[in-house]
Amino acid sequence: MTRAGILARLTAPDAFALFAEARAIRAKTKGDACFLRGLVELSSVCDRDCLYCGMRHSNARTHRYALDDATIVACARLARELRFGTVVLQAGECPALWTRERVAGLVRRIKGETGQRVTLSLGERSEADTAAWREAGADRYLLRFETTDRALFARIHPGASMAGEHPRLAQLRRMKAQGYEIGGGFMLGLPGQTLASVADDLLTLADLRCDMVGVGPYLAHPDTPLGRDATPSEVPVSVDFTCRCYALARLLLPKANIPSTTALSTLDPAHGRVAGLNAGANVFMPNLTPRTVRADYQIYPDKVCVVAPEADSLAALRADLAAAGLAQQEG
Ligand code: 5AD
Repeated sequence: MTRAGILARLTAPDAFALFAEARAIRAKTKGDACFLRGLVELSSVCDRDCLYCGMRHSNARTHRYALDDATIVACARLARELRFGTVVLQAGECPALWTRERVAGLVRRIKGETGQRVTLSLGERSEADTAAWREAGADRYLLRFETTDRALFARIHPGASMAGEHPRLAQLRRMKAQGYEIGGGFMLGLPGQTLASVADDLLTLADLRCDMVGVGPYLAHPDTPLGRDATPSEVPVSVDFTCRCYALARLLLPKANIPSTTALSTLDPAHGRVAGLNAGANVFMPNLTPRTVRADYQIYPDKVCVVAPEADSLAALRADLAAAGLAQQEG
């Protein structure tokens, strides 16, 4: 697919045919399987000051927490009991808290005690760190590159080193070489973001040969500099536009695992999740973070939590899967 072809489909009057095409490809590559990944948000402590994120270091209005190892392993056991098959460990970027040794130990314990796949999402880390975690058994790593527009990336990530390759693209390539399944992705509707750059973002997913794709709408957080920035965006913050990106990602990467994201559900709690699944997504990530701290992982406001193991949440999830013609599969 060319950049012009992608732009045409991003801006066409409607996307029914695009969504149908994406579903047909998913049916071929994935059947009717929908994978659930148990998300554990390890801590809201963060060293970075990303202009868009509610957990940025300078935001004094958010409460910071960090889970201990026993609690994290208990969350992983819960994922096992719910037959999710994969646990995703995500945290604000803080290498002092999530040292190479500590994370390697956690990965070993979770793999040993639950036999599940482990996905890490711990931000920008050194080649030696990710090598040690791979050695310990980590299977996958999620690191959104947020935008391939270098000037925009630099503007919203204070302190980013932009001398060489885009730092997150460089890390994704390194991790691919280390044997990880890699997950890239981006936000939609950032102030100053262009449609052409979103076409490039989609092409970059294919260029990286991403195994997983994380794409969601940008949701302004009032306690952040970007949340107060009125610069317009060419890119709509909408369910339809987000779904077009899922469908195009499915066309570009037929076998990728693509979640219908929490941000999409937050944008439209009644319809977002199923709309994503109907546009070619095949993954959903229920939140397994302990209730006591869940509200403190405030990347953006009013984050909806599809929370496991609460029965009503899981029942609603199953209903959405059925509506999309999908069924939960362990893996
Ligand atoms: N709106 C939407 N998504 C956000 N993220 C961070 N802040 C926001 C926001 N305000 C996303 C980024 C990050 C992921 C963990 O959450 O894409 O990589």
